[in-house]
Amino acid sequence: MGKYIIAGNWKMNKLPSETYAFVKEIAAATEGAQCEVVCCTPFVCLSEAVKAAEGTHVKIGAENLHFEDKGAYTGEVSADMLVDLKVDYVIIGHSERRQYFAETDETVNLKIKKALAKGLIPIVCVGESLEQREAGVTMELITGQIEKAFDGITAADAEKVVVAYEPIWAIGTGKTATADQAEEVCAGIRAVLAKLYSDSSAKKVTIQYGGSMNAGNAQELLSKPDIDGGLIGGASLKSADFATIVAAAK
Ligand code: PGA
Repeated sequence: MGKYIIAGNWKMNKLPSETYAFVKEIAAATEGAQCEVVCCTPFVCLSEAVKAAEGTHVKIGAENLHFEDKGAYTGEVSADMLVDLKVDYVIIGHSERRQYFAETDETVNLKIKKALAKGLIPIVCVGESLEQREAGVTMELITGQIEKAFDGITAADAEKVVVAYEPIWAIGTGKTATADQAEEVCAGIRAVLAKLYSDSSAKKVTIQYGGSMNAGNAQELLSKPDIDGGLIGGASLKSADFATIVAAAK
C-alpha cells in the first residue's frame, strides 16, 4: 500500500572506517532495486555513509535524534545536524531506546514532530513484549503507541511517516513473527491510522515489519498486503542477505 522501503538498522555495529566501503557494497548489491533502500547508521558513520551513497539509489538514515534544536544537551544530536549531513531518514522510538535509554511515547512524539519539521522522514517503531502478547493486549498496546506517536500531527505530515512494527520478542532473537501475525498487526496499525486520519491517508503510510527478518523469510512477510517493507537489524550487516531482502520487495 505505502511505498516499499527496506531499511537497514546497523545499531551499534560497523566502524566509521568500514562505512564507506560497506555502503558502496550495499549499493552495488541492490542495484536495480524496485523499492527504497535505506541504511541507518550510527551517528559517527553518517558522513562517510552519505558520501558513499551520493550518486547511488541508497538513502541514509540516523538511528535517533534529539527533539530540541540546540543547546546544553551533552552527547545529543539535533535534526539540523542530520539535515546538514544530508541524511534523509531517522529511526525514532526503537524498542532498544525505549528499554535502555528511557525513550517514552512523549519523547517519541516530540522527535517525530521535530524530524518532520526539518524534512527528515521518521521511521517510528512500535511493538509489544512477549508478556504483552501472551496477555492478549498486543493491539491495545500498539494502538496506544500509535495514537501517542501521532498526537498533534497533521494528515499531510502523517502520510510521510514510516511505521515499523517490531515485536520485541522477535528482535535479534531469530524468532520471527509468522507472516500472518505480522500482517494482523500491520493491518491493525493501518486501521488505527485510518481512524485517526482517513482511509486514503492510512494507505499512503509505509508500514514495515521488523524482527529477525532475513533472506529466508522476507518474501513471505513482504507478500502480505499491509507489510510495505522491513526494518532489518542483523541481516543488514551482510550485503548479500540484505540484497536478497531488497529483491523480495517489489
Ligand atoms: P533484527 O533487528 O533484524 O536483528 O531482529 C531488527 C531491529 O531491531 O530493527
